[in-house]
Amino acid sequence: MSEPRTVILLGSARNPGNTYHLAQALADKLQASLVDLSRYQIKPFDYTFHNQDDDFPGLIREVLTYERIILASPIYWYAPSGSMKIFMDRLSDLLKIDKPLGRQLRSKRAAVLSTGSDEIPADCFEQMFKLSFAYLGMQYEGMLYASCDEDFILEQHAKAINDFCRRLHAG
Ligand SMILES: Cc1cc2nc3c(=O)[nH]c(=O)nc-3n(C[C@H](O)[C@H](O)[C@H](O)COP(=O)(O)O)c2cc1C
Repeated sequence: MSEPRTVILLGSARNPGNTYHLAQALADKLQASLVDLSRYQIKPFDYTFHNQDDDFPGLIREVLTYERIILASPIYWYAPSGSMKIFMDRLSDLLKIDKPLGRQLRSKRAAVLSTGSDEIPADCFEQMFKLSFAYLGMQYEGMLYASCDEDFILEQHAKAINDFCRRLHAG
């Protein structure tokens, strides 16, 4: 069976940082595209939608051409990074002013990549993604987490990356 076309969206306050290195390692294995959200101007959610002149409408159309969407974020205060949260808030645009695009999310697979300094991530971090994907009707495939003391050392996470790839392939 061929691998679903996969895009990894990176939302980190630094590139290259730990989450970038984890995302790049997985992108290599899955032959996925890696998109750095910091290269795009994405304005916060606006109830009046006076933000549609930014990069979000074009970016989401591109993202929706993929079958699997992986969100990659460090854990900052038990939560996703600011740039990832802004991106996720903007998915609400699809539910309010572009419903046909929103419906396209329903057929997508979704997963999460993360790094943090805690050995085990707090449940609330993954839960936020899981509930959001469920609300959007996306098929959640799980989270790959790398605990990083300081720097990202690939060898320390190689097995977890391979196991996660196997899990995605089995799904
Ligand atoms: C503002 C901030 C908040 C953080 N909060 C947490 C946290 O709640 N839990 C955790 O495990 N690590 C936390 N960390 C550590 C980072 O998640 C960790 O260093 C991560 O690998 C950084 O990834 P990056 O290089 O992509 O930014 C925090 C780091 C920063 C800068």
